[in-house]
Amino acid sequence: MIRKYSYSPMINTGAVVKSIPSESAPLPYFTLDNGVFTYKMSPDARIYGLGEAVRGINKRGWIYESWCSDDPFHTEDKRSLYGAHNFLIVDGDDRFGVFIDYPTRLTFDVGYTDPDVLTITPEKLHLEVYIIEADTLRDIVREFRALIGKSYIPPVWGFGYGQSRWGYVNREDIAAVADKHEKAGIPIDMIYLDIDYMERFEDFTVNGERFPNFESFVKEMKQRNIHLIPIIDAAVKREEGYRVYDEGHEKGYFCKDENGEDFVVGVWPGMSCLPDFLSPEASRWFGMQYKALTDAGIDGFWNDMNEPALFYSEKALCGAFDQLREFEGKTLDALTYFSARDVFARLSNSNEDYSAFYHNAPEGRFCHKDVHNLYGYKMTESAMNALKELRTEPTLLFSRASYIGAHRSGGIWTGDNHSWWSHILQSLQQMTGLNMCGFLYSGSDIGGFNGSCTRDLLLRWLSFALFTPLMRNHCAIGNRSQEATAFGDTEAFRHIITLRYRLIPYLWGEFLRCVNEDDMYFRPLSFDYEDDRAAAGIDDQLMVGDRLMIAPIYKQNTSGRTVYIPEPMNLIRMSGGEITTERITKGRHYVDMPLGDVVFFSKGKLPLADPAMTVAELDFENLTEVGEEIKKNS
Ligand code: GLC
Repeated sequence: MIRKYSYSPMINTGAVVKSIPSESAPLPYFTLDNGVFTYKMSPDARIYGLGEAVRGINKRGWIYESWCSDDPFHTEDKRSLYGAHNFLIVDGDDRFGVFIDYPTRLTFDVGYTDPDVLTITPEKLHLEVYIIEADTLRDIVREFRALIGKSYIPPVWGFGYGQSRWGYVNREDIAAVADKHEKAGIPIDMIYLDIDYMERFEDFTVNGERFPNFESFVKEMKQRNIHLIPIIDAAVKREEGYRVYDEGHEKGYFCKDENGEDFVVGVWPGMSCLPDFLSPEASRWFGMQYKALTDAGIDGFWNDMNEPALFYSEKALCGAFDQLREFEGKTLDALTYFSARDVFARLSNSNEDYSAFYHNAPEGRFCHKDVHNLYGYKMTESAMNALKELRTEPTLLFSRASYIGAHRSGGIWTGDNHSWWSHILQSLQQMTGLNMCGFLYSGSDIGGFNGSCTRDLLLRWLSFALFTPLMRNHCAIGNRSQEATAFGDTEAFRHIITLRYRLIPYLWGEFLRCVNEDDMYFRPLSFDYEDDRAAAGIDDQLMVGDRLMIAPIYKQNTSGRTVYIPEPMNLIRMSGGEITTERITKGRHYVDMPLGDVVFFSKGKLPLADPAMTVAELDFENLTEVGEEIKKNS
């Protein structure tokens, strides 16, 4: 059952697709005082959800903020990352889901200030609250997902393996990735193009010198069943003579400052303008620009920098130089020195800048800060609406920033993580929250984006990520190469990535089922074993689809781990490319997992395809089965 409580929303975010009348009775569970919603949690209540947020699967004990943020340090003290996912489930003496449809800053204090109290604090009381009740946790999610509409389905090849790197600068670099994977017998379906494919970082352009005959290159790669996936950044370079800028400027499609001039921000291309994705005309105009690339045969994109990220604004940059001049010639004490040093750092993603530009939405003019969390969502929607017109086949699309609603148009990746062991676990934990909010096609940068990856980290990360719908290895410029072919002996990488392909019939089938049934593809164990107290405390294992369970290694120099088995299962081991199965009983077990082995568990028989180098070559019909059906009480 879903009930809606309306508190004068200012804008229709589009997150919800079902129309539900507002209740006049008071909101259950919460008290509302001075604009703060307060709920008293029972001592053992667990709180699930909040999408991409950091920390464990159970969100209790920390404070989170919904504010789409370009933050490349995903440490556990962070309150916000790129997404704003305002849905959580309380599982305690009461059991319900709550969704706050609100486009700007919202704070969830989940037992941080007072361990037994959950407070939800919006900046202003202009929002809608949905309360969802059902018999099981999984059903609460199903009801919520039916409210927000069906999740995006990528093309089936989107379940293949992808290699990306900021720093592949030309056609030769890309071709070399394909060649090396082919030579090593490592399957691959996608190679990503980061900003260097563009001309001066201008969206919808291709640098002709570094990528001569782009269209024939795209075709050539496609003949090898490899899809090239270019990045599209939100901001458009301000440069007269650049068609996209000229058109957007003339037609008034960019966000404006308080004087009605285009608001100018510094991002990768330098001074740039922000398309106003809240204006239906501007949104359609931007979306149709993807045609420049779909005409060249491109069938997938990743949308970036759409929080929107602002390194600096033109105005704030001038102010920063003025401030610095004030320090010149003075003897600085330590604190003044730090303040001077940080003058430029403070410019990025500043509240002042987010308060200094405006959108033209159908409901009227909005200051950006009041609708901030919709920007990335509306960019994804702009792209997908147009791509559906431009192409007959499904298009691969995922984004960095998001709000609930964006899950209907594309997937997301979890942004600029690090080559840290802890980020394997973080990624695993993010998946459940994301799935609750409809983001099924998601994944993290395998191997880590920032920092330098090692062979063992990549092997362990792949052993987890082979189960994530989006499986992409990506890293930042300046770091050590981290392709599966970059660490000498490629055999172990080949076996792990091949296993992914062998599992695609199961993973893809379950993904489609979960979209159709509004189910979660990744679930905490407690969602499947509600009465099992031990399962409730597990936050480093996941259910995958209907019958798999994973318990990956996320610590360096460990060769096994304790796994909680909630019912008798098959233990499936891939070692050196060979697959073996054995029975494992309910309870806690220490399981050996040497580097290079992948161990996972199934409740019953598991279909496996024969190895293939690309999804196009995968035989979905002739499958072998491993494991056996197991009676629950055996
Ligand atoms: C952002 C993206 C990252 C990309 C980089 C350069 O940091 O999150 O994935 O590689 O920009 O485009």
